[in-house]
Amino acid sequence: MIRGEHSSRAVRALEETFALELGSGVIQRVWSESDVSVLAAVGEGMVGTPGVSARLFGALAAAGVNIRAIAQGASERSISAAVPTVDADRALRAAHGGFYLSPQTISLAVIGPGNVGRALLEQIRVAAPRLHASHGLDLRLRLLMGTRRSVGDPLGLDWSSWERAYSETAETASLDTVAPCLRDAPWPHAAVIDLSASDEVADRYAEWLAAGIHVITPNKRAGSGPAERYRAIQHACTTGRALFKCEATVGAGLPIVGTVRDLVHTGDEVDSIECVLSGTLAWLLNGFDGRSPFSELVREARERGFTEPDPRDDLSGMDVARKLVILAREIGAELDLDHVEVRSLVPEAIASVPLEEALARLETMDEPMAAELSKAADSGVLRHVATLSRDGRAEVGLRALSATHAFAHLRGTDNCVQFRTSRYRDNPLVVQGPGAGPDVTAAGVFSDLLRLAAHLGARL
Ligand SMILES: NC(=O)c1ccc[n+]([C@@H]2O[C@H](COP(=O)([O-])OP(=O)(O)OC[C@H]3O[C@@H](n4cnc5c(N)ncnc54)[C@H](OP(=O)(O)O)[C@@H]3O)[C@@H](O)[C@H]2O)c1
Repeated sequence: MIRGEHSSRAVRALEETFALELGSGVIQRVWSESDVSVLAAVGEGMVGTPGVSARLFGALAAAGVNIRAIAQGASERSISAAVPTVDADRALRAAHGGFYLSPQTISLAVIGPGNVGRALLEQIRVAAPRLHASHGLDLRLRLLMGTRRSVGDPLGLDWSSWERAYSETAETASLDTVAPCLRDAPWPHAAVIDLSASDEVADRYAEWLAAGIHVITPNKRAGSGPAERYRAIQHACTTGRALFKCEATVGAGLPIVGTVRDLVHTGDEVDSIECVLSGTLAWLLNGFDGRSPFSELVREARERGFTEPDPRDDLSGMDVARKLVILAREIGAELDLDHVEVRSLVPEAIASVPLEEALARLETMDEPMAAELSKAADSGVLRHVATLSRDGRAEVGLRALSATHAFAHLRGTDNCVQFRTSRYRDNPLVVQGPGAGPDVTAAGVFSDLLRLAAHLGARL
């Protein structure tokens, strides 16, 4: 029987269907002492079928279950593994998932139910039944945390009513509770989705990854922050089994990080990257024709959720500089944020005042921006452009471009990235599309989650 601390509704359901079929066999927990349990996969179909033990042990490894001993029956119809009793429920679920006898379950800690967070939770609410029914993927919201409060449920919060549970909770938030909460659950896989823009959260990634907890994020702090922290994250990934997924850090839902990785992994050499990488600045400059003051457009962008929590992160060019650092590191350049030459759009007068005061004094931008616009009118259009060259030169700022330039024809929050590489020398490889907004950013994060699920064995 399955017993123990994790005697939850789901575990009881599993007890009822204790012997699930493996072809003509079963996977079951057959014996346990206080600290060691034996899990057995038994089936006629095993004899002469390559890969059965690889699937069993692969599933246990992906769930981080340490195997103390293994044995195979002389008849080749059973394989047994001794696992720590504390991991036995997780091991059984992982093995069932590995043979598609039950869904792949991922326990999630979602940090930051802000603009992107809410959009993501809604997208998962809508998709969860289909993912469960058609793709064998079971997503559980184990923990939801903001700056001041958190709410959790060992079986997973209801995707439809998390908002009420979150607003009614009296529990305070502590990042120290994230790993224990995820480890506590009997589900085979665990992931943190960080939807904050916080360094404090990014500081925890290496520790979570080293503990086998996957990390998915649109937060640029880790990819562009101190090199030491970035290396610790890379090290945790290369030495452990957990994945760090960050596609939405550059270009929201656009496949930019993945494209760079594919170029590099297939042996291409990136000579330069020229890009419009701020959906916010693209939206502002596409709409800035001098008829309304620039500050008015900035306020509208903030209201529509296009800007960073602090719009100066966009206007200063630092958000773009962070993205450039992320791309530079992906192509192997050791670039730090202070090596990027950034020409800020934020006037000195509001550069370091508190956020509320900066928002109240946005009009200080209007005159200098009007002057930039009239200068650019002679040659064509005004755009915010970032460039990165192979030798590590990185620049971010306003540029006057001819009206025939590809960046002159972008619309809305379009990002556009042109990669010139050994293979794409004459005609650059171009990725273009909306690069900001809660929905597309959440979709980028969700895609990363589904790629992780596929890696863990879900049928996607
Ligand atoms: N919005 C976009 O179009 C866009 C595009 C690309 C990338 N991104 C990235 O997506 C992330 C989220 O953006 P957003 O627009 O959703 O921001 P937001 O609305 O300000 O939400 C941020 C959330 O993070 C939480 N948070 C901040 N610091 C935290 C901490 N130390 N511990 C726990 N929770 C913390 C906040 O909690 P409270 O609710 O308690 O304040 C809030 O719920 C950012 O990294 C941003 O750079 C956004």
